[in-house]
Amino acid sequence: MAISSNGYQSGFGNEFASEAIAGTLPVGRNSPQKVAHGLYAEQLSGTAFTAPRGENRRSWLYRIRPAAMHGAFEPYAQPRLHNDFEAGPVTPDQLRWNPLPMPGVDAPTDFVDGLLTMAGNGGPAAMTGMGVHMYAANKSMDGRFFYDADGELLIVPQHGRLHVATELGVLEIEPQEIAVIPRGMRFRVELPDGEARGYVCENFGALLRLPDLGPIGSNGLANPRDFLAPQAAYEDIEGEFELIAKFQGHLWRADIGHSPLDVVGWHGNYAPYKYDLRRFNAIGSISFDHPDPSIFLVLTSPSDTAGVGNMDFAIFPPRWLVAQDTFRPPWFHRNIASEFMGLIHGAYDAKAEGFVPGGCSLHNCMTGHGPDAATFDKASSADLSMPDVVRDTMAFMFEARAVIRPTVQALQASHRQRDYQACWAGLRRNFAAP
Ligand SMILES: [Fe+2]
Repeated sequence: MAISSNGYQSGFGNEFASEAIAGTLPVGRNSPQKVAHGLYAEQLSGTAFTAPRGENRRSWLYRIRPAAMHGAFEPYAQPRLHNDFEAGPVTPDQLRWNPLPMPGVDAPTDFVDGLLTMAGNGGPAAMTGMGVHMYAANKSMDGRFFYDADGELLIVPQHGRLHVATELGVLEIEPQEIAVIPRGMRFRVELPDGEARGYVCENFGALLRLPDLGPIGSNGLANPRDFLAPQAAYEDIEGEFELIAKFQGHLWRADIGHSPLDVVGWHGNYAPYKYDLRRFNAIGSISFDHPDPSIFLVLTSPSDTAGVGNMDFAIFPPRWLVAQDTFRPPWFHRNIASEFMGLIHGAYDAKAEGFVPGGCSLHNCMTGHGPDAATFDKASSADLSMPDVVRDTMAFMFEARAVIRPTVQALQASHRQRDYQACWAGLRRNFAAP
């Protein structure tokens, strides 16, 4: 099965309108007595009906069958994907992992079955916090569809392209692009390259949005027009299919006799979208010192405290380093925020080795971290008379106000680097009292 992309509509959170068959969308109303072409009208809302207009998100879907049509749900066994973050004391250690191993050729694994929960906080019951997952898959979803009622999914591919067929149309993404699938949106992930690996942030809180820019002004960082929502595309097929739901931290399955990707036309501002991280307009110092990494913010999920994110998505893209009399890589630091990092491409400028594409690290609240010994030695004696360019890199961070609690399976995983702390062991005592 495959639905071809019908292209994209541009803009972040716009009031989009798209129809795969001309004349599908009602004009001047949402729910006429009879919808064109014998379709059903259905509203999908992503915010409370009464949310302020500027934050209100919903879309109207005109579809072959309503979403209510499927069999009864029963538990679906995929115990590696969950939101059980409260098991036992959480270690303040610095943590790092090698890439999640790919499934073997003798173990065909699709996107849903290939998800492994690494860490998280909060949960779907309270609608706050986030889950951090990784996926490694070698099989397209075939005859099955997935939706997550617990949060929106920020998908960050690291290896292999994804063909994400959703109810509202197709997103095609490759490493260094991201996709955001709204809470509740049904979709199917196919693997054009036969295998894929990447990261997923499951945002239980307020919908991701572009950050305010303050003194930066009206342009810069991620620009709204670079966010792309799909044009409507649908399939009209019947068969013995499976609908998988993530609901309150666990997976459920139900029989469904047709493809739920049967939306012929839709309008509204609650839609999946993609963004090419290479379009991020990086801002930095042109005098001295390294600004706080909030300058690398792509998207933020606000909390109920002004200026404090429930979770933030930041990237560390290629950029020039020109600051004078400055230690140019990230400094040593301890933050109140907690940081889960991944590397999509190339090398990261604070680590000489050990943090590899597909790997990840976790530095929680007040846990000291920063450049490794080799990076410190190199950067503290570098020639600053010339600009330096950071090429061939794309790292990212899921940052949260609450501690990001690693799961038992992540701590016990064979691909965890149990000697991570050794990367700072070589930092020499340089102090010499005058
Ligand atoms: Fe950090």
